[in-house]
Amino acid sequence: MSKLRIGILVSGRGSNLQAIIDNVEKGSLNAEIAVVISDQAEAYSLERARKHGITAVHVSAKGYKGKREEYDAQLVRTLQERNVELVCLAGFMRIITPKLLAAYPNLVMNIHPALLPSFPGLHVQKAAIDHGVKFSGCTVHFVDEGMDTGPIIIQAVVPVLDSDTDDSLAERILKQEHKIYSKAIQLYAEGRLTIRGRRVLCRDASGRNDDFLRNP
Ligand code: GRF
Repeated sequence: MSKLRIGILVSGRGSNLQAIIDNVEKGSLNAEIAVVISDQAEAYSLERARKHGITAVHVSAKGYKGKREEYDAQLVRTLQERNVELVCLAGFMRIITPKLLAAYPNLVMNIHPALLPSFPGLHVQKAAIDHGVKFSGCTVHFVDEGMDTGPIIIQAVVPVLDSDTDDSLAERILKQEHKIYSKAIQLYAEGRLTIRGRRVLCRDASGRNDDFLRNP
């Protein structure tokens, strides 16, 4: 089976990128990382990619102020030059425009550190603690034109503990992020995902049928 060619867009430290690289190398993710693109020259993600022999490109946003579509056109060129089939946002800190979505319709995934549709946007671990929710988690979703609004592929739940700080909750969530992002990409690679309206259906899902979670 030929490998799904993915392009990963990043801005920072790249722990999700690393998890994807590790899963590809282990063979549990049947994909090839065709390119990693960062809008930040100094992103540690670029170094992580290069250490593994993956093409890593800095696409500077300089000169694109107020021209987000043009910046995205540049991204599309870079992705298409490398025959990327699926685009994965992994801590990419820019808002995607319709330019990218038109080139990759329902072919852009994102990971978000909360249980969407609760807590979209930034600083969401703090928002979850401040709100007093007893569970949070993470979500992989297809990207649409809204902010963290696209169809949900997979979610993982973690408890929010009384002793939690933003950092301790973020760390607990991140561990799950590292599992579910590769899982979502693999489900796509296996052709098992179908988008029906807002719902993403997964063929032959081995969903457990546990009754409920309770915390505390
Ligand atoms: C993750 O929490 C991800 O959910 C969010 O940005 C963070 C990126 O972290 N979109 P990393 O760069 O993958 O370590």
